[in-house]
Amino acid sequence: MSLPSPSPRPTEARINTLEVLNLRKVFGARGRAGVVAVNGVTFSIRRGEVLGLVGESGSGKSTIARLIARLYQPSSGEIRLNGQEVPLRLGGAALRQFRKHVQMIFQDPYASLNPLHPVGYTLSRPLKIHRLAKGDGAAQVQALLERVGLFPAATYAAKRPFELSGGQRQRVGIARALAAGPELILADEPTSALDVSIRLDVMNLLLDLKDQEGLSMLFITHDLAGARYMSDRVAVLYAGTLVELGPAETVIDAPQHPYTQLLKSAAPKPDAGLTPDHIEARGEVPDLKALPPGCPFEPRCPYAMPECREGLPRMYDVGEGHQARCLLHDPGVTPRRAETGAGLMR
Ligand SMILES: Nc1ncnc2c1ncn2[C@@H]1O[C@H](COP(=O)(O)OP(=O)(O)OP(=O)(O)O)[C@@H](O)[C@H]1O
Ligand SMILES: [Mg+2]
Repeated sequence: MSLPSPSPRPTEARINTLEVLNLRKVFGARGRAGVVAVNGVTFSIRRGEVLGLVGESGSGKSTIARLIARLYQPSSGEIRLNGQEVPLRLGGAALRQFRKHVQMIFQDPYASLNPLHPVGYTLSRPLKIHRLAKGDGAAQVQALLERVGLFPAATYAAKRPFELSGGQRQRVGIARALAAGPELILADEPTSALDVSIRLDVMNLLLDLKDQEGLSMLFITHDLAGARYMSDRVAVLYAGTLVELGPAETVIDAPQHPYTQLLKSAAPKPDAGLTPDHIEARGEVPDLKALPPGCPFEPRCPYAMPECREGLPRMYDVGEGHQARCLLHDPGVTPRRAETGAGLMR
């Protein structure tokens, strides 16, 4: 999808709304090798910032959002909201309180809305659950619908999901996330189920709401152009491991990890065909039940070296606020660059 250039957005405050430290999720481990869906992930989201999370299918993007939202129980790690540690086990009133601050928007607005209930009922539920409803909440529901651009609000409040288009349904999904007055929105591929022609409208709605309400946002996508349009910074995930993190323009225009370079070279281009910076990847996505001890991308990496198999590389600083988890950035292996043809890295 080709998108217009976004207007620059200042990354204002340096206060972190969310900090995720060494987050890990292993599914179905009992006695057998489990699926390591999220493998020690660390990042933060500043107040008023959009952090894009990109990676191919199965890389663990949704699992990260669901761990933060506490739809899944983390295996280990730490999550901090406004500097306060959120206990790994949350339930009852504490979970309800947490959800007031952190809300999710899902990929498929049809599956995530109850088909039996009119929109007004769906939007009044969170108001009631969080004890925010004034009277019957109808005026607040109307205001929510107007905030997401559904006019006349009273008409939309009476409709059921099947009477709405995909874009209208996703607007209702966004309104539902806003109902509790959250400060952090976890948007899991909120536009990928929508018609290409209306994706930009929904992305612009999210950016407007973020600006108007000072929201922080995790924006999950596998579309690099969408990530660049929406995000202040971008994090790249491969097989449950963060491999690159930095300012959106830098990470996407000048990626420094071979996996991000692969994603970029594989992304559809208006003038289809191979470009000079096209890089070939070999091998398969690793089995999440038996991850290699070293870099998870090593089996597919065109620049793989024996050292890459020895242990997981650390994140190396590769520019202002920009990090990549790759030994090609280790000064100790610099002489190898020429041999591996990794001149592409700079
Ligand atoms: N509830 C679950 N039980 C067992 N395994 C799971 C569960 N949820 C996810 N997984 C596994 O965890 C890995 C990561 O899945 P996840 O859904 O987080 O990926 P994703 O990056 O969101 O992919 P997509 O782009 O397709 O949405 C996959 O191997 C998946 O099969
Ligand atoms: Mg997903």
